[in-house]
Amino acid sequence: MSSHSVSATRRVLHNAPLLDAINGKTPTRTPVWFMRQAGRSLPEYKKVREGIGMLDSCFMPELLAEITLQPVRRHDVDAAILFSDIVVPLRAAGVAVEIVPGRGPVLDAPIRTREDVSNLPILDVDVPEVAAGIGIILKELNEQQALIGFAGAPFTLASYLVEGGPSKNHEKTKAMMHGDPETWHALMQRLVPTIVNFLKVQIDAGIDAMQLFDSWAGFLTERDYTEFVLPYSTEILQEIEQYAIPRIHFGVGTGEILGAMSRAGSEVMGVDWRVPLDKAAERIAAVSGPKVLQGNLDPALLFAGTDPLTREVARIKAEAATAIAAGNATGHIFNLGHGVLPNTVAEDITEAISIIHA
Ligand code: CP3
Repeated sequence: MSSHSVSATRRVLHNAPLLDAINGKTPTRTPVWFMRQAGRSLPEYKKVREGIGMLDSCFMPELLAEITLQPVRRHDVDAAILFSDIVVPLRAAGVAVEIVPGRGPVLDAPIRTREDVSNLPILDVDVPEVAAGIGIILKELNEQQALIGFAGAPFTLASYLVEGGPSKNHEKTKAMMHGDPETWHALMQRLVPTIVNFLKVQIDAGIDAMQLFDSWAGFLTERDYTEFVLPYSTEILQEIEQYAIPRIHFGVGTGEILGAMSRAGSEVMGVDWRVPLDKAAERIAAVSGPKVLQGNLDPALLFAGTDPLTREVARIKAEAATAIAAGNATGHIFNLGHGVLPNTVAEDITEAISIIHA
C-alpha cells in the first residue's frame, strides 16, 4: 500500500452545519444533503455529460468538479458529494469495468476462482485526476459547505465483481461466501487496500468527511454480515481513523443489521427509509453506544407533493429528536433513505431542501 500524508492544506470550516452536527455542536440549521444529488435529476448534468461515458467523466477533473458542484449551487445543500462511482478505484487499478446506462457497473471478466482473486489488481498509486478534481471543488465551496468523499465497501464491490454486473439476488456472491469461504475471504482481503488507498487519495486532496457505501449489505443475514463482511469494513474504517475526518457508514435495507454495521466503527450511521430513526438509534446504541444518525426520507416522497413531503420531513426530524433526547443518538444529518431517483424533478429537490432547512 502506498503511503499518504494527511493534507497540510485541509480547510478549516466555520459553522459548517454538517460538521457541527457530527461534532455534537448545535448546527445553525438542519444539515442536509441527498445521496445521488448529482446526476440525472439535473438538466445541467445531462448537458455536460452529453457524449461522455460515465466512468470517463469520473477521470476528468474539471468535469467531475462541475458535476459535484451543480447540486450545491442549485439546491443550497450543506454538503457536496464527490462525483465518482464505487467502481472508479477498480478502473484506476486496471480492472476492465464499464457502467452501462440504466444498468450499472458491468465487468468483462467476473471474479469466481482463487486465481481470479490473485489476479485482481490492487490500487496502490495516486489517482491524480480525482485529486485534481477535489482541489477544484474545494476552491468553490464556502466554509459552511463540506465535501464528502466516498468509497464502496468491500461487500458491495465484491458483489459486482463476482456477479459480473448488477444483481437482484446476489446468488453467485452468496454461493462463493458459503461454498468457497476461503476464496471469499481472500477477495475481501484483496479489496481492502484498494478501498483504503482510494479514500486516502481523497483525504490527501482535502475532503471534509467520507462515506462508506455498503449499498447491498442489507441482503445479508446478521450472521453472514458479521462473519463475512464486518471484519473488512472494520479494517477500512480503522485505517481511516488516524486522519480524524468523520466517517459515515450506510447501506440499503439494513434495519436488521444496523447494530452489526455500527461495530465497524463510524461516527455516523446512515439509515434507509424502512426504519424510523428512533428505532434505528436504539439498535445502534444498544451495540455501539449513541452515534450520529443520517437519513432517512423515502426518495419516492419527492414525487408526492408539498404537503405529504412536509409531514414526512417533520416526522423524521421528530424521530431524530426523540432518539437524541433518549440518549440513543448524538446528532442528525438529514438525507434520503437511498439515492435520488433518476426521474425526480430538480425543482422538487430544491423545495425539499428548503422545507428541511425551514
Ligand atoms: O451524487 C452522488 O451521490 C455522487 C455520485 C455517485 C455515483 N455513484 C454517480 C453515478 C455515487 C455516490 C455513486 C456510488 C454508487 N455507484 C453506489 C453506492 C450508492 C448507492 O446508490 O447505493 C452504487 C451501488 C453504484 C453502482 C452504480 N453506478 C449503479 C447501480 C449505477 C446506476 C446505473 C443506472 O444507469 O441506472 C451507477 C451509475 C451512476 N453512478 C450514475 C451516476 C450519476 C448514473 C449513470 C449516468 O448518469 O450515466
